Amino acid sequence: MGQLDGKVAIITGAAQGMGENHARAFVEEGARVVVTDLQEEAGRELAGELGEAALFVAQDVTSEADWDRVVAAALERFGRIDALVNNAAIWWTATVLEETADGLRKMLEVNVVGVWLAMHKVAPAMRDSGGGAIVNISSTAGIHGIPEHGAYGASKWAVRGLTKVAAHELGPLGIRVNSVHPGGIKGTGMFQRPEEEHDAIFRHNPIPRAGERSEVSALVVFLASDASSYITGHEHVIDGGRQLW
Ligand SMILES: NC(=O)c1ccc[n+]([C@@H]2O[C@H](COP(=O)([O-])OP(=O)(O)OC[C@H]3O[C@@H](n4cnc5c(N)ncnc54)[C@H](O)[C@@H]3O)[C@@H](O)[C@H]2O)c1
Repeated sequence: MGQLDGKVAIITGAAQGMGENHARAFVEEGARVVVTDLQEEAGRELAGELGEAALFVAQDVTSEADWDRVVAAALERFGRIDALVNNAAIWWTATVLEETADGLRKMLEVNVVGVWLAMHKVAPAMRDSGGGAIVNISSTAGIHGIPEHGAYGASKWAVRGLTKVAAHELGPLGIRVNSVHPGGIKGTGMFQRPEEEHDAIFRHNPIPRAGERSEVSALVVFLASDASSYITGHEHVIDGGRQLW
């Protein structure tokens, strides 16, 4: 028996990186998934590989019309929505002195407005499906201040705060909302440091290595599953203990 048997999930930014792995893990655990991304070719390829259990919908998470299409496609193909993983995001580094106002606006548009729109558009269908779980992917940059992560950090702190407000408001509708805060995770677009640098980066961590995508997927699956039925509104840090510093 899978942890997500019978559930239907929407996973954004799932053409590559952690989102792709989440989509594979959700299907392995018995869910049917709507994979969305800006990258059409890679998204379609993944959905094709996952077969009948997956549907790809091209989407810009900042577009309200795209969210309407994603919700309609999910309901038309699978008839319900039980889980939403807000994984799509953008990232770059810049000091406060280097960043531009347009850069900050762009980061907030994708990483914050995208997550807000997702919850705003998907929650009614989730309520009508009998409730569900939303997992918002933040970062350890949304837990403390990391130099050169001003715009990205602001966006990920916002996701953390939005998660708590949504948990308050959507709880009575049967919807749980949690945030996940990964540290450096290998095999992703946002963490491309060569293995030879890992020792320098991670050697002081209690678990002195980069994280695996599968380790984050296991947490996201748990938060989307009924096994976490009494957990809402919390930050779930997955970073090998780096936050202890
Ligand atoms: N990689 C890490 O080490 C790390 C650490 C902490 C947090 N995170 C967070 O985890 C999540 C996944 O990270 P990753 O490194 O796997 O990402 P990634 O860069 O590998 O993939 C992100 C995906 O999002 C898509 N995307 C970007 N903008 C979009 C938009 N406007 N609409 C739709 N799709 C869009 C991209 O096309 C891409 O496929 C992100 O929220 C990221 O902030 C990553």
